[in-house]
Amino acid sequence: MHKIVAIDGPAGSGKGTIAGIVSKECNLVNIDTGATYRCVALKALRNGLNLEDKKAIIELSKDINIEFTKDARVFLDGEEVTDDIRSKEVTKIVSPISSIVEVRENMVELQRKLAGDNDVILEGRDITTVVFPNANYKFYLDATLEERAQRRFKQNKEKGIDMTYEEIYENIKARDYNDMHKEVGSLTRTDEQVYIDSTDLTIEEVAKIIIDIVNGGK
Ligand code: DC
Repeated sequence: MHKIVAIDGPAGSGKGTIAGIVSKECNLVNIDTGATYRCVALKALRNGLNLEDKKAIIELSKDINIEFTKDARVFLDGEEVTDDIRSKEVTKIVSPISSIVEVRENMVELQRKLAGDNDVILEGRDITTVVFPNANYKFYLDATLEERAQRRFKQNKEKGIDMTYEEIYENIKARDYNDMHKEVGSLTRTDEQVYIDSTDLTIEEVAKIIIDIVNGGK
């Protein structure tokens, strides 16, 4: 049986960074499921679609080629989009796009395919509940809204993405609401997840908690 580590949590809780560290330490293939929704959003923008064009967005999500490299670069239909999928424009529409039930069905199928029979770590919103409810290890990573906005602000600055703290705060707040009120695949806490509040923890401390559990369960 292959090993599956699943991490869910709200935007900015550090899932991406933590999954990157744990994947290396525990030799797991890292799948950023948020990036799959971001690719759908980017492709929709590039095709001149807006959120009202639901049918066209669903069609587009059926026939999309997304690949991840080992060093966490993302390719959409053969073209590298690692940075493009983090743009302000994509970030603004990705949550409503990820609320479309049929888009979710297509992405969940794709995410399972990407995992294949590898030892994997996946992070997102519905990994522990929908994508891999039978995962070996399930975590819910959290932090206060203020802390998450602050982290994203710092991260964006480093990447040269021009968004004010207020813009980020409001965007994350709206995404939290959207992510927790989806018809299907809502971000949910369950008794099966190990809950980690990372507000006052360093990246290393959070990673260690997860690595110890995953390695301890060998
Ligand atoms: O983690 P992120 O910010 O890159 O995710 C982008 C969006 O995709 C986010 O608004 C929620 C959504 N998402 C989702 O609905 N289900 C997932 N498994 C991962 C992300």
